[in-house]
Amino acid sequence: LALALPKQDLQGKNILVTAGPTVEAIDPVRFLSNRSSGKMGYAIAEAAQARGAKVTLVSGPTHLKTPTGVKLISTTSAISMYEAVLEHFSQQDIVIKAAAVGDYRPENPSAVKIKKQEGNLSINLVRNPDILLELGKKKEHQILVGFAAETNNLLEYAKGKLEKKNADLMVANDVSQEGAGFGTDTNTVHIIDRQGKEIKIERASKLEVAHKILDKTLELK
Ligand code: CTP
Ligand code: CA
Repeated sequence: LALALPKQDLQGKNILVTAGPTVEAIDPVRFLSNRSSGKMGYAIAEAAQARGAKVTLVSGPTHLKTPTGVKLISTTSAISMYEAVLEHFSQQDIVIKAAAVGDYRPENPSAVKIKKQEGNLSINLVRNPDILLELGKKKEHQILVGFAAETNNLLEYAKGKLEKKNADLMVANDVSQEGAGFGTDTNTVHIIDRQGKEIKIERASKLEVAHKILDKTLELK
């Protein structure tokens, strides 16, 4: 039994993890969302909980089971996720932003079902708040870990996001690779720190990758 228990190196830490997609209403029956399954974020929540952290998981809709002992806060739109994260931010030691937050939402969601008409339909999209960017401005003692999902120029874009959002670590995810990114059970990532150091985590289960991300985060202390 002792062997099965992971090290309790996150004992006493409050960790907030965001996971899954955001969902933006177009009308009562239609929405705009993305392909995030939530698996990476849920794996981080599970790993952190197993290592003794008090974990709050802010999640968009997924088909996943909430890990035992983890406090779930369910969200839908980017704005609802933003509000939930900000409400809990001050108490956190570490915030890990694995959610795939939609950059845009329909400007005026219709209260009634939109009926089809002749010709094309245009839906005007407006920008959502950038949650990580806001946290980067507000942070005091918190360690901030962001994710960057890219199909090209992976490390360059991820480094740019690390700087711009004032994060402490960026997990760069090449979503064009097989066995990495959205919906898969495994992931291949690079973890980049503020000194520009990067380490590659070779393809492994999302739970193993989660533990590596937590290891790196603890090394920053
Ligand atoms: N993020 C966020 N709020 C947003 C958009 C992104 O908090 N409105 C966070 C994500 O959770 C992730 C990080 O920012 O941790 C990077 O997200 P990503 O979509 O890769 O970057 P963007 O800055 O949105 O840039 P782009 O989509 O144009 O590549
Ligand atoms: Ca984005």
